Amino acid sequence: MLLSLVGLVTLLLGVAIFNFGVTASMPTLLERGIPIKDINYYSSAEKGPGRPPHWEMVFWWTRKPLAGARAIIAASLLPDNAYQSTDSFLKDLFPCRNEKKSEKKIVHSCNPSPRLIEKLRGKRLLDPFAGFGSIPLEASRLGVDAVAVELLPTAYVFLKAVLEYPKLFSDRFVEVDGKTVKELGLEDVAKQFSGRREVSESGRYRVPMLIYDVARWGSWVISRLREDPVIRDLYDADVYIGTWEVRCPVCHRYAPLVGNWWLARVKKGNKSYERLAWMEWQNGEIRVVDLNEQCKQRRLGNCNNLSAEVTTTGEEGGSVRWANQEFVVPIKNVDARRETAQCLYCRAEINHRVVNGKVVKGGKKEGDWYVKWALRQWNENYEKYLRGEITLDDLRQSPARPTLLVKVYVKDGDLQFKPATQQDTEKLWKAAEELRKMWGDPDIPTEQIPPYGHIGSGLRFPTYAIEKWYQFFNPRQLLTLIKLVKLIRQVGHMVEEEKLKEGWSKEDTYKYAEAVTAYLAIVLSKHVDWNSMMSGWQLSYLIAAHTLAMRGIAMVWNWGEYSPYSSYRGTLSAMLNTIINSLEYLHLNLLKSVGNAKVILDDASELSKLEGEKFDVVVTDPPYADDVSYSELSDFYYVWLKRALSDVENNELKPRFLPEAFFDEFGLEIPTQWQRFAPKEVSENEGRWEHFGLKVTFAELLTRAFANVLRFLKDDGLLVMYYVAKRPEAWAALVDALWRENGLELVAAYPVETESEENVVARGKASVLGGYVSAWRRRVGEKPLDLDEKREEAFREVASRLEAKREALRSTKGGATMWVYSYLAALEYLTAHYPVRLGGVELSSDGLMRQAVVLASEALLRSSGIKLTDRGAHAYLALRIMESESGYVDSDALSYVEKAVGLEHKDLVRLGLITEVETGGPNVAKRKTFEVLAPRNDSVDEVKRVYSLQRGRSAVLDCLRQLQLNATTRIRTLITCTSEVREEALNLARALIKLSELGLLDKDDADVKLSRPVLLGMGW
Ligand SMILES: C[S@@+](CC[C@H](N)C(=O)[O-])C[C@H]1O[C@@H](n2cnc3c(N)ncnc32)[C@H](O)[C@@H]1O
Ligand SMILES: [Zn+2]
Repeated sequence: MLLSLVGLVTLLLGVAIFNFGVTASMPTLLERGIPIKDINYYSSAEKGPGRPPHWEMVFWWTRKPLAGARAIIAASLLPDNAYQSTDSFLKDLFPCRNEKKSEKKIVHSCNPSPRLIEKLRGKRLLDPFAGFGSIPLEASRLGVDAVAVELLPTAYVFLKAVLEYPKLFSDRFVEVDGKTVKELGLEDVAKQFSGRREVSESGRYRVPMLIYDVARWGSWVISRLREDPVIRDLYDADVYIGTWEVRCPVCHRYAPLVGNWWLARVKKGNKSYERLAWMEWQNGEIRVVDLNEQCKQRRLGNCNNLSAEVTTTGEEGGSVRWANQEFVVPIKNVDARRETAQCLYCRAEINHRVVNGKVVKGGKKEGDWYVKWALRQWNENYEKYLRGEITLDDLRQSPARPTLLVKVYVKDGDLQFKPATQQDTEKLWKAAEELRKMWGDPDIPTEQIPPYGHIGSGLRFPTYAIEKWYQFFNPRQLLTLIKLVKLIRQVGHMVEEEKLKEGWSKEDTYKYAEAVTAYLAIVLSKHVDWNSMMSGWQLSYLIAAHTLAMRGIAMVWNWGEYSPYSSYRGTLSAMLNTIINSLEYLHLNLLKSVGNAKVILDDASELSKLEGEKFDVVVTDPPYADDVSYSELSDFYYVWLKRALSDVENNELKPRFLPEAFFDEFGLEIPTQWQRFAPKEVSENEGRWEHFGLKVTFAELLTRAFANVLRFLKDDGLLVMYYVAKRPEAWAALVDALWRENGLELVAAYPVETESEENVVARGKASVLGGYVSAWRRRVGEKPLDLDEKREEAFREVASRLEAKREALRSTKGGATMWVYSYLAALEYLTAHYPVRLGGVELSSDGLMRQAVVLASEALLRSSGIKLTDRGAHAYLALRIMESESGYVDSDALSYVEKAVGLEHKDLVRLGLITEVETGGPNVAKRKTFEVLAPRNDSVDEVKRVYSLQRGRSAVLDCLRQLQLNATTRIRTLITCTSEVREEALNLARALIKLSELGLLDKDDADVKLSRPVLLGMGW
């Protein structure tokens, strides 16, 4: 593998010497080439079951796989000759890579070899956008000292929990008896750290003190909650499935809005089902139909394996045939997108609207949809009630109110569904009464949600219904959360007391109490995420989905609510177990021998706490344009973390642990992250800018941050960054920030596996375009380039770079990834120069990027001796490369094509290359889609169809289709194109074939297949 990269090595060496003259810096292994295919393979194992255990602690967006981070950090610090072979590099990186041959290798579970750690000793790394800390964690494990900087308090707390606490207390152990070990669920930990195979009640075991205390105090919290007479009486099932009900504007009864009548639909193999249950509406009540239950009652054999025929319409309703019976599962009776619902009593369509406080029958597009209005009324009344302004009856008369549909019991490892009764719903009102008694308590999160949360992509809150954070919870959920906050706060004090009594120093005691409390506060955050009225019930996983699963918080109609006493998946005690597993992993891997990691709460554009420091390398992963609005979304955790980690005095929150995260420089409480940090976040959101009256682009924010970060990088150090090419503007932003504004050149780039897809729909095309790691160095001196003069040289350079990278190109999956990657190869050449001129004008970053795409695509074709001049033909090829499997491109992909060929999308429509199509999908992912007009099979009819759409539009495509028709029908009709156009059409056919040979198009692509006979019959 390394051999195939020799070309690249020579090339880069040449560049490096040329660049740096006497002060030439040693090229790194990252610049010479790393075995990206293997590394990506290991990274991909971190999706699903191979996920790093500590990620389960709590969700954070776009976390990077550990295997990839480790390889990239090491390669960016090692000299290019550090390893003689790829294999020895991989072996040192991932010593356990050969274990478990049969499965995908999970290489992050053991630390790098001591030999590699030795090579990197003394090196320092800075990650100014640390997030959940994959990069600094792996730096530590490599023996590198890391500084992790984060803007947001939430991530700051999580980083401390991942990077600092485990190491800080890694040499403290306690001896615990076997009985306690079992009670606390520490069997694994005890075996691991005592080196024993079994845990017996009478034995004694060595357990890391921190893990022991988190487990012990965590279960203390749960048992205290159990002793709370109010809370105890509120729960009598494991899980509740609830939804909203609205007062029907026609019959005035309260009708539940059921987003999904299915309760369980779990497949087993192809034809059978492990679990089938749903709800029905009968005589004004919810009824449960449970086929597994029926099967058992009728003794029909293996009831965990129902052979049933199920037809569904999406996830909404359907029909079931089982045991010679036919069932109908009702379809949902609420459709928020279409703004309509149906009353289950009188069957009236609720598409009413509220105009100036008056309910009018639907159809008109004025006012608010009745249901949205009703939800807002609920929240207004909820607060009025809590304030003591209206009675409980008034609250219950709100046009919308929460209700329960079904109670779920865990019995012998299975779920039992029971319709919820009026008495069950009463418990929500009982909780409301308790909340009213404590209104004014600072533990109720009454902070505002971002009012602009419905504008722009990457950030969506149901702002039409909700204004404050506490309103995401029904009264019972809210009451329980508040009690939990108080108990966790109490733990902080008790741990402190205990350790002081044991003779610990004040300082150690405080740090330790902080750590234990922080972990419990994280358990609380996770519990919050899984326990709101926006955590929807998942019928195939039989668990609620977490609230933050998408790039926004979406309204759901059937939510899952967990009893805090249950130990079912997703409940509080299950989450406590998760944190124990996380800590075990971190303890085992963050030993004293590894590098230090320091966590700093700061803005990457300021870094005032780093004055005077220099780092050998910056490896980082900044936000990607509008992908995630971190400040606003993670406020969902913030309002709870802040409370659990602070004290209450005189009915106010007071600094306690990590005060820097929750109080400003004047000691004032920071209400929410969005109010204070959103304007500083390096990402973009229309609504945010409007709200704060800011006029700054993502590119500017990125530029500013990197200009600052570079102050801390040694002269010969690499700046390595992850980046997702979601939109070309985002790439231009990077080029602008690094090449134009900060004098860097691109010296290496790799396509990398990034985090598992949280939600493919929400992520859209980004998942296909994939992630890249690019490495940048300081450009030395002025190196102007005139592209008119040096066009040929540029093609040669780019072509040879591409040649050298072919191996890496082959290992990537989608065409789009390769496309971007080839264009990055061109950027390597271009960014080594400054300024770059074309047509006598100095190129902007945007222009440079466009040239890079043009150079790359043309170099690809030229490398095969094909020359195309028609822009439409170029655009067609680019579209074919960029399209999805089903032949569509979205607006992101389209703008790459526009940039590459210099045609606008209306030109592409005019030329008959694309047509716009309607696309559905949830609001969060709404975007424009275009169909690429190309034959999708090699039948005559198909070619005719496409021909009819392109005829007379683009001369070259018109001609190509005629040629293809002739070739498929084998009838020689007169081809009506000029000889030049015909020559170009033949070149296009050649190019299609060539691209398929290069792996950019499918070998079996219909267009490619149709083009082969065209070339054979060239004489016609
Ligand atoms: C893509 S995430 C990093 C993910 C991380 N590499 C991981 O594996 O978990 C980017 C992070 O940058 C943070 N961020 C945004 N603006 C920042 C700023 N101005 N200074 C520091 N951090 C910032 C965000 O809060 C977010 O956590
Ligand atoms: Zn009705």
